[in-house]
Amino acid sequence: MPTYGRLPIALSHGQGVYVWDTDNRRYLDALGGIAVNTLGHAHPELVAALREQVGQLIHCSNYYHITHQEALAAELVRLSGMTNVFFCSSGLEANEAAIKIARKFGHAKGIERPSIVVYEHAFHGRSLATLSATGNTKIQQGFGPMVEGFVRVPINRIEALREVAQQQPNVVAVFFEAIQGEGGVHPLDEDYMREVRALCDANDWLLMIDEVQCGIGRTGKWFAHQWADIVPDVMPLAKGLGSGVPIGAVVAGPRAAKVFGPGDHGSTFGGNPLATRAGVETLRIMQAQGLLQNAAEVGGWMLQTLRQQLHGVAGVADIRGKGLMIGIELDRPCGALVQQAADAGLLISVTAERVVRMVPPLILTQTQAQEAIDMLCPLIKTWLQTPSN
Ligand SMILES: Cc1ncc(COP(=O)(O)O)c(C=O)c1O
Repeated sequence: MPTYGRLPIALSHGQGVYVWDTDNRRYLDALGGIAVNTLGHAHPELVAALREQVGQLIHCSNYYHITHQEALAAELVRLSGMTNVFFCSSGLEANEAAIKIARKFGHAKGIERPSIVVYEHAFHGRSLATLSATGNTKIQQGFGPMVEGFVRVPINRIEALREVAQQQPNVVAVFFEAIQGEGGVHPLDEDYMREVRALCDANDWLLMIDEVQCGIGRTGKWFAHQWADIVPDVMPLAKGLGSGVPIGAVVAGPRAAKVFGPGDHGSTFGGNPLATRAGVETLRIMQAQGLLQNAAEVGGWMLQTLRQQLHGVAGVADIRGKGLMIGIELDRPCGALVQQAADAGLLISVTAERVVRMVPPLILTQTQAQEAIDMLCPLIKTWLQTPSN
């Protein structure tokens, strides 16, 4: 189906942060499969572990204990300070489970028609419930009616949320991305996140933080909300957790962990041996290689260098992000830059029409970051100087 606007490129293999196409052209992969290839491409330890796993057991049903699933759950619990995990296979599934948890949490309190606070410019996926939670009318168009039960507020404005608390007795949860990804790389203020945590406590709401894109070490902490020193009640994960092998997870704290009982939710593939082995190895290798620190250091250097190189360039509206999640906002749509960057040997994306986004593997070195900047900055400058753009 014609669901994607594809570039005329077919990738055949990769090594580290580089990928090659079928014509053997090399690209620096600053997109990482959209924040997925945590360890880069063909990481030797991940490849060896997955080869071994494929030869042992790819899949079995959740009717049985799955050793790697239990190990991965224990590690996610340790890293998050939360208590329980449900596994699925993608980000939208993790968010769908979070929405179901919030609704059941509300029903248990006697709220018949529970509603969840969501945000302008949010992106939570493309199933009907997660699309309804998403704050982008363009991608909702043609799929109405949307699922009911969402109240929308702007980010970083606590008064808007306080107003909701006063006016809407049916609210059961607040749901945000600690850094909005598809919406244009918009970080939530740390103070704001702390205030939301306090409001959730005061009103007996669940705090649900979508870490699908900004989590798994990308910002230099395991989860981006940890910069605010808070712990959510529900945390959906996916993307980088399996370093390319499809996996999703919902981590829950004590207030949410027992909401689902036997038979309330499930997923055939969720947490299967291959996917959870990939998760276990990804988290292990990240720690062994110090990839959180690398993401913080190389990402911080990259942000600073981009700000220097694009300083005073007319048409650059903002440069923001955290760690290796970086957005360069221009004052005009710039989707065509994706092809131009690829022609120059760099894979990036443009999101929210005018934000150049880089979410590379967390193994990116400073030299490689420099290489990416050297390819990207001249393109942006030329783009902005071309009158027809
Ligand atoms: C924050 C966030 N949540 C959810 C999703 C949906 O994930 P998936 O495409 O795996 O369903 C995405 C995908 O971009 C995302 O960025």
